[in-house]
Parts: sequence; C-alpha cells; structure tokens
Amino acid sequence: MKEIAEVVVVVKVTLVVNVLFIFLTSGLSDFRTKKTTFASMNHLIAPSILAADFANLQRDIELINESEGDWIHVDIMDGMFVPNISFGFPVVSAVKKHAKKDLDVHLMIVDPDRYLKAFKDAGAASITVHYEACPNLHRTVQYIKELGCRASVAVNPHTPVLLLEDIVADLDMVLIMSVNPGFGAQKFIHNTYKKLADIRALASEKNPGLYIEVDGGVDASNVKKLVEAGANVLVAGNSVFSAADQKGAIAGLKRLGA
Ligand code: DX5
Ligand code: ZN
Repeated sequence: MKEIAEVVVVVKVTLVVNVLFIFLTSGLSDFRTKKTTFASMNHLIAPSILAADFANLQRDIELINESEGDWIHVDIMDGMFVPNISFGFPVVSAVKKHAKKDLDVHLMIVDPDRYLKAFKDAGAASITVHYEACPNLHRTVQYIKELGCRASVAVNPHTPVLLLEDIVADLDMVLIMSVNPGFGAQKFIHNTYKKLADIRALASEKNPGLYIEVDGGVDASNVKKLVEAGANVLVAGNSVFSAADQKGAIAGLKRLGA
C-alpha cells in the first residue's frame, strides 16, 4: 500500500515537472512575462519646465529634484515647426548642472538631426523628435541611439499612431501629443485616449517595454484615465507649476490624482 502511494507521488511530481518544462520552452511564459512587465510598469511623472519661472530656474529644478517627479521634461521650440520659441543649448546645459533627474528633451524643431549631438552634449537622457519633422525617421532614431540616448518619436494630435507600425520596435518611447505642440496650459484633446489604446495595442505586439508618454493638459482629473488607457510617462507643466503646492501636485499625479 505504502509502495503504491510512493509511485503515485513520483508520477505526480514527474507530471508537474513535465508541464513546467513545456510551459517554459513553449514561449508561453515569455509572452506572460512580457504582458506582466508592460501592465505593471509604474508610471513616471515628468514635470515640464516650460511652465517654470525662468528667472528662478535653479529654484524650480531643485524643487523637481526634491519631488516625486521622475524626469525633467525640456521643451525645445524653434518658431518654425511650432509657432513659438522656447530656449536653446545654454539653458539646457545650465538645467543639467543642477538636475538630479534625467532630462527628457522634446524637440519641436524642423530637421532635428542637425542638433541631436548638441542636445546629447547639453545633457539629454531621452531625445524626442516629431514624426512630422523627420523624412528619414529610421536614420534619425538610429542616430539618437548611437549617441546613447533613449530614442523617442512624438505624434501630433492629427497623426495616426499606426504610422509608427514599422518603427515602434526600434523605439524606447512614443510621445502622444494631447494638445497641439507649441504652448503650455492648453486644453486637453479627448481623442488622446483612443490614440493611447492604439499605441498600447501596437506596443503589446511589437515592443512591450515601450515607454508611452502623454504631453499636454495632464492634471489630477485625467491622470488615472490616461494611465488606464496605456500611458506610463505623464508630462505636466501648468498643473504642476501653477499649483500653490507644486511638490504636492507632483505627488498627486504620482498617486493618480487620488
Ligand atoms: C507643449 C509642450 C508641453 C507643455 C505641456 O507643446 O510639449 O510639454 O509643456 O504643458 P501643459 O502641461 O501646461 O499642457
Ligand atoms: Zn513637451
């Protein structure tokens, strides 16, 4: 009787080991891990210094250093790609001197290839170029990666996410513009939720570790819905810097507005 029980145990253990072996070698576990990584990625907050007080930039950078913010979003505008001019290399280098967090540089400029190395040298950890500004996007993306930066592509509100289908596997991040680029404190465009769902579906298939950033009109009222729709990096300018308690506003976004 005891012998039969022992045989039953051996058969059961063998069965479990076999099932585990098939699971691990079938690629199913890989699929599950990727799904988990994607779904459970903690969202990051990137306060945008476009809304900071430029006469007190060091103070505002230090505020972000001490906050729960993860990256510092740096908007570069050339008055050509967008109808506004922000600032250039000397300011980015000065920000870098005081920043304890990664500089997330968003280039709203025509022909960005001319300046990628200069922005890397000024301190960029991520460089975002616009789909609409890059006729040879694949080359541009490879160049950003060669420089050792995270490579990211932004799409304007009118640009379908599906146009990224053949480049998404090469990217570290996609930035979904939730306002028309060029200015802070604009009204959030609701079609962004649909675009986030589209890019999330594309990323699940082709690049599960992709950062999906949303930029424009992000505040405590929409942050949760944006993360649920697929965003995992939230840029926030006006909602942070116009708040009485700026570190509290960043912490609030980190807690999904709760
Ligand atoms: C807009 C910029 C944004 C801007 C967001 O063209 O790309 O990064 O700073 O600002 P808010 O959060 O104020 O909409
Ligand atoms: Zn931006």
